[in-house]
Formats: sequence, structure tokens, C-alpha cells
Amino acid sequence: ARVSLWGGRFAGGPADALAALSKSTHFDWRLAGHDIAGSVAHARVLHAAGLLDDAELAGMVDALGRLRADVASGAFGPAEDDEDVHTALERGLIERAGAELGGKLRAGRSRNDQIATLVRMYLREQARTLGGLVLDVVDALIDQAATAGDAPMPGRTHLQHAQPVLLGHHLLAHAWPLLRDVERWTDWDARAAVSPYGSGALAGSSLGLDPAAVAADLGFDASVENSIDGTASRDVVAEFAFVAAMTGIDLSRFAEEVVIWATKEFGFVRLDDAYSTGSSIMPQKKNPDVAELARGKAGRLVGDLTGLLTTLKGLPLAYNRDLQEDKEPVFDQVDTLAVLLPAFAGMTATLTFDTERMAALAPQGFSLATDIAEWLVREGVPFRVAHEVAGACVRVCEDRGIELWDLSDDELAAVSPHLTPEVRSVLTVEGSLASRSARGGTAPVRVREQLERARSRSAEL
Ligand code: ARG
Repeated sequence: ARVSLWGGRFAGGPADALAALSKSTHFDWRLAGHDIAGSVAHARVLHAAGLLDDAELAGMVDALGRLRADVASGAFGPAEDDEDVHTALERGLIERAGAELGGKLRAGRSRNDQIATLVRMYLREQARTLGGLVLDVVDALIDQAATAGDAPMPGRTHLQHAQPVLLGHHLLAHAWPLLRDVERWTDWDARAAVSPYGSGALAGSSLGLDPAAVAADLGFDASVENSIDGTASRDVVAEFAFVAAMTGIDLSRFAEEVVIWATKEFGFVRLDDAYSTGSSIMPQKKNPDVAELARGKAGRLVGDLTGLLTTLKGLPLAYNRDLQEDKEPVFDQVDTLAVLLPAFAGMTATLTFDTERMAALAPQGFSLATDIAEWLVREGVPFRVAHEVAGACVRVCEDRGIELWDLSDDELAAVSPHLTPEVRSVLTVEGSLASRSARGGTAPVRVREQLERARSRSAEL
């Protein structure tokens, strides 16, 4: 017989089709440990309110402890007829404590405030774990940047050669957004550290239970200000989901570059055998599957966020069963990132860059034209004129199939009398890089400082 939590009003049990639709144990069972922790905390406030005597509290805590052990060992799990994690665990409690004592625990709480609390507990733990895994990727990027040292590469805008930059500068440009993702989860935690327990179904409890005591017991900073908000809002879940999606997107942007860089045409990077795959038919193939899966899973992570937000849109207060749909998207994000991040960190740590090729390509595509213009500005030429002069140099070179530094003194002078041979001092990658020495720039001296700051930020988080 199907056990339900609302027998009194109903003549019969739910139809099989409803039970099948309603069921959530296949995904919410992962909250079982948090549910039991919540039950222990709830038993204590029932005791404090005089609704359980000392012996009852001891019996309840003992039964919940045995239930916890049985859940951990796998001896107890959800049965076919259990609707959700709460229903299953109430059955488990009653099996251990008896119907008389076990039946007392439900007083003053609802699955609505329970589930809202458990999701927060779970996500707070996951945010810390996933944040640590993101930092592993960050550290791999920082180590690669340190290894790259002063090695230059072609910096691009619109995927076209723009200006030379340090490879380390570029790699750190991927590290900072990921550091911010971890910071986002840390900032989010301050908002997530508020417990809905005690909100009941929506209106709060009449039984003299202390929500603040439960909150403290469960590691929260406070309990919610408003019981309706506590049970009906899911912005905390959506914000977690945004950070997960953003992390996926930030990974996918580096992933896309790895895919491009590993092509024959670019030839910037070689993937380690352990982090690339072969082809079942083409013996020569070495594919960047980790990067491609990162790119693909970013879509999935965004989909999870989008689905969740769409579930929330237009929902009236307070609890609606739609809210049961909040869990699978974020659980999927957690599981996705938990497998993706370690592989991504490994791939990143084992990349080998062809720094010679990158250095050779760095000044090509007239990427030093801006250096000519800025040199002219330092000589007192207005930038509008300087831009045109540098552009004219590019045109001459393009016509003749030569590079900027191949222009003779006469050719330079013919383009503009301002172009004295001294301009050659900036027509090297080293000169160009060294000149970008303001804070945040790609000059080697600045990048070395930046690297140390990224390292200490990562260590702080
Ligand atoms: N399983 C539900 C959820 O995940 C909690 C149960 C609330 N059910 C209800 N009928 N009020 O949101």
C-alpha cells in the first residue's frame, strides 16, 4: 500500500499515474543526509518548545542517527512507493522509532520549508567544492603563464592579428574571469546562508519553535525574515545556477581557443596524449575532446539555468509544486561541472605551447602599426595624422609584399617626413611589448606582477 502524508482527508491513495508524475526520489535522494540533519535540529527545537520530553528527544535523535547510518551504508533507501526524500525518511524514522514517537517529528514543519532549506545546505557545500575545482583550473593557467615567461604571441581582435601580447598575459586573461566565478560563489554564500526552516508551509509556525536555533544548528547565519519568501523564493538557486553557467561559459571560451590553437594552421599548442583522443578510422588523429566537451557542456549548463528561470517566471506566491523542478537543473550543473573541471584542469596543465612559432607570428599581419602611430604621437604628431601615416606604411608594405621593418629610410621618409629611422626602435615585438607598461598592460614587468597577484588571489579564495 502506498503510504501518504495526508491520509485523513482522502478516501483512497493516488492513482499510479499521479504517483509516477509526482515522484522525486530518483533525484532528491541526494539530499537525504541534509534532511536528517534538519530533522535532528527540528527535534531539538520541538524539545526546547516543550513538545518533546527529554526521553523522546533522546529516542528521536538515536533513531535518526541509526537512520543516517543506514542511509550511508545503503541499508535504507527510497522505496517504490515513497514520493520524495522527506516521505521516505519519515517512513524510515517510523520504522526505527515507532509510529508514536516518529509521528511527532512532523509538527511545525512542512516539506515546503524543509526542501527550501535542504537545497540551500546542499548548494552551499557544492559551491565550496566546485569553487575549489575551478581554482585548480585557475592554478593550471597561472602555472602555464609562469612557464611561458616573456614568450610573445599574436594578440587578436576579431580573430585578426592586432598587437603582440605575452602568452602569459593572454592565459591570465582566462584566469581572472574564473577567479571572479569563484568569488561569485563566495559572495552568493552570504545570501544563501539564511535558513527557511520554521516557515512551515508558508505562514510560519504556531508551536513556539525557534527558527534561529535551527538555522544556527544547520550552519546558517540567520533564519529568513519572511516565511512566504522562505518557502516560495528560488532566486538563491537561480543565482547559483548563473554562476555555474558562467563558469561553463568562461571555460568554453578558453576551450574554443585550445581547439583552434591545436589545428595544423595555428599550431600554437600540443595536447598531452592523456588529454586528447584518437580516431577509430584515421590513425593520425589527435582530437581536443576535453575542450570540445567543455564547449558542449557550456550549452547544457546555460540550458539548466534557462529552464530554472523559466520555471520561476510568473509563479504566484507561495509554494507551488512547480518548485520541485528547481532541483534537477542545478543537480545536473553540479554533476556536469564535477566531471568537467578535473579533466579541464588536467588538459590545461599539460598543454605544450610552440613558443617559437607564436613568437614568429607575433609581429606579422602588420601588428606593429599601432606602435608606429604611438611613436609619432610621442614625437608630437597628432594621433589623427599618426594613424594615417602608419596606415600608409601598411599600404606600401602590402603592395610590395614586405613587413613594416623592411621599409628603407627613404621609403619611410617618403611616407612622411616625421618618420625618421629612429622609428625602428619600436618595430620589434620586444619594443612593442615593453612599451605597454601601464598597469594592466602586457609589458613583461607588469605581467610578472599580475601573475603574483593572481596567485595570491587564488590562494585567498
Ligand atoms: N518534493 C517537493 C519539492 O521538491 C516538496 C514537497 C512539497 N509538496 C507539496 N505538496 N507541498 O519541492
